[in-house]
Order: sequence, then structure tokens, then C-alpha cells
Amino acid sequence: MFKNYKIWLTAILVLVVFAACSNSNDKDNDEEENATPEEEETGELAYNPPSIDDLDPDDPMTESIQYGEELFNETNVALDEHVGNELSCMSCHADGGLSQSSSMVGVTTQFPQFNKRAGKVFTLEDRINGCMVRSMNGEMIDPASEEMTAMVAYLAYISEGIEQGEDIPWRMLNTMEEIPEPDVARGEELYETKNCMSCHATDGSGTGANSGPALWGDDSFNDGAGMSRMTKMAGYIQNNMPIGEEYELSDQEAADLAAFVLSQDRPIYDGHDEDWPNGGPSDIMNQERRDAIQAGDFDWTEIENVIPAE
Ligand code: HEC
Ligand code: HEC
Repeated sequence: MFKNYKIWLTAILVLVVFAACSNSNDKDNDEEENATPEEEETGELAYNPPSIDDLDPDDPMTESIQYGEELFNETNVALDEHVGNELSCMSCHADGGLSQSSSMVGVTTQFPQFNKRAGKVFTLEDRINGCMVRSMNGEMIDPASEEMTAMVAYLAYISEGIEQGEDIPWRMLNTMEEIPEPDVARGEELYETKNCMSCHATDGSGTGANSGPALWGDDSFNDGAGMSRMTKMAGYIQNNMPIGEEYELSDQEAADLAAFVLSQDRPIYDGHDEDWPNGGPSDIMNQERRDAIQAGDFDWTEIENVIPAE
């Protein structure tokens, strides 16, 4: 009995020592300790943003980061005098920019960056101001202000651990490059049958920036926004909506819905003429096109991305 016990003890000891050694070997060979099995295979960056709950109250950065989060999530309230509609940044960059499908995680590592729409190099502050005057239908924020500093501090915090210029696999995923020729009347039906109206209201005016933001009308983004392009709207709808059933709409359904939403009136951006100095995309839905759709004579194949229906 005693002898048996000793044999078992030795066996366990050997196993423990072996496990500990092989474990430390693994660590030495592994650059990233938290690598998921999938990531180990592809070598892709892991999606692992730090939680805002982990902020250290004694860190002098914390206050600014928290203020930045508030500005990002409650923009129409917290930056009322700069925002011209009823949206927050989170209306499109869900969960405070942490949602993987329209993510802001790592965004600070991608700037400065050449911006094709403006035809010049953009800082992150320039890019945020781009969303301010288009998506928020508002005014720019002073790049040196406390507000801009806080927003950048927040975005830098959720980008922690990602290196400057790194290839981010979850960046800019919401684009449908090949769009089946849409049908606006079908889109209008889907708006009801897919339940969009329960959160975004029958008239598209929304139920709240973070419960169902305005899709068209005075409280929505203007037609200079990225979302006013067919490729971006169709891609966004398919990857993000309806909430809880993401990725379930077919290309055709998402295209029909995007066409319906973008055929409705919305604020007009007054800087279209300065955009895309070196030639732009063909999918921007401006007032002329909205009018043509509403009058029943728009040719969708004007848009290069549209694949004509048989
Ligand atoms: C109406 C929707 C909408 C709203 C509201 C919005 N954005 Fe955006 N944002 C977009 C789209 C669309 C893009 C471009 C994505 C693409 O091209 O695939 C974008 C891109 C960005 C980028 C560049 C991302 C990159 O990887 O280069 C930043 C930074 C950004 N937004 C910040 C903000 C901030 C800050 C706010 C609030 C002040 C905001 N956005 C509000 C739709 C929106
Ligand atoms: C359960 C409520 C809900 C339903 C149903 C829903 N949405 Fe949304 N929608 C939201 C919320 C909340 C946001 C803000 C972003 C987020 O949290 O994902 C949003 C954001 C959007 C946006 C970007 C913001 C804007 O103002 O343009 C579009 C476009 C959109 N939804 C379209 C649709 C369409 C089309 C449908 C139907 C297929 C739909 N949604 C169904 C709640 C909903």
C-alpha cells in the first residue's frame, strides 16, 4: 500500500514537471500568449480590445478617456452644438466602436493616411471631423480642443496593443462591391417585413441615437457621408441589421433596403464639388438621383457596382 503510494507520487511528480517544462517551451515559441487557435493558423491579429471597466481611476489619462467615450456614445447630446442631427458616433460604430463589424479598434494606428475623398493626407482628427460634417451633418471640432483630445484618447485606448500601420482584418468590412440591381418598392416592403420600422420608425426618423437612429430625413446623416453610398449602405445593412439577425439578409435584400433608404430625402452636403479631386466612385446617392428615383426614372446601372438584373 505504502509502496503503491510512492509510485503514484513519483508518476504525478514526473507528469507535473513535464507539463511545466513543455508549457514554458510553448511560451518561448509563441510570440502572442493569448493567440487563439484560429489566429495561430492564419497569423492574423487577435480581436482583443481592453475593457473600459479596466481603466485605473488613479491614472491621469482616465478622465479624458471616459469623456471621450461619452462624446462617442452620446454625441448628439454631449456635443449638441456641433451635431446637426440626432445621431451619435455609436449609431454607426456600434457598442462604442467595439463591435467587430464596424469597429474603431486599432483605428489610431492607421493615421496619418491619404484620404482619397479629400485628395490629401489626413490625421485622425481630420477623419473624425470628416464624420462630424457628413455623418453628423454638423460642424468641425477644433483639433486642439479638450473634446477632440478626449475622443482621440478614447480611440487610442481601445486600440491598445496594436502596432502603427498594422494590417487590421476587421477594418472597413461593410462594403458590398457587387450589388444586384435593386428594386426600391421591394425595399420598402422589406423595411416592414424585416421589422426595421420597429426600431427606426415608419417614417425613418428613428427612435433614438442608440436604440434605432434616424435613417433618413432631417435627423439623419447628409448625402456627403460614406453611408450615402450604395456599396457602404448595402454592406452595412447586411453585416449589422436587423440587430440580432446580422448576416441573414441576402445580397438582393440588403441592396433593395439600401436603395429604399437612400431614395428618401436627407440633408444635403454642400461640399460635393470639392470631393474626390482625382475622380470618385459612381455610387454616391445625391439629390439628383433621389429625385430621379422618386420620379420613377433612375437607371441603376449608372452605378458601376450594380449588376444588371436579367
Ligand atoms: C451615419 C454613419 C456614421 C456615423 C454617425 C459616424 N460614422 Fe464614422 N464612419 C462611417 C463610415 C461609413 C465610415 C467609412 C467606412 C468604410 O469606408 O468602410 C466611417 C469611418 C470612420 C473613421 C475612419 C475609420 C478607418 O478605419 O479609417 C473614423 C475614425 C470614424 N469614422 C470616426 C467617427 C466618429 C468619431 C464619429 C462621431 C463623431 C463617427 N465616425 C460617426 C459612418 C459613420
Ligand atoms: C432591434 C432594433 C433594430 C432593428 C430591428 C433594426 N435596427 Fe438598424 N439600428 C439599430 C441600432 C440600435 C443602430 C445603431 C448601431 C448599433 O447599435 O448596431 C442601428 C443602425 C442602423 C443604421 C446605421 C445608422 C443610421 O442612422 O443610418 C442603418 C442604416 C440601419 N440601422 C438600418 C436598418 C435596417 C435596414 C433594418 C431592417 C433590416 C434595421 N436597421 C433593423 C436598431 C435596429
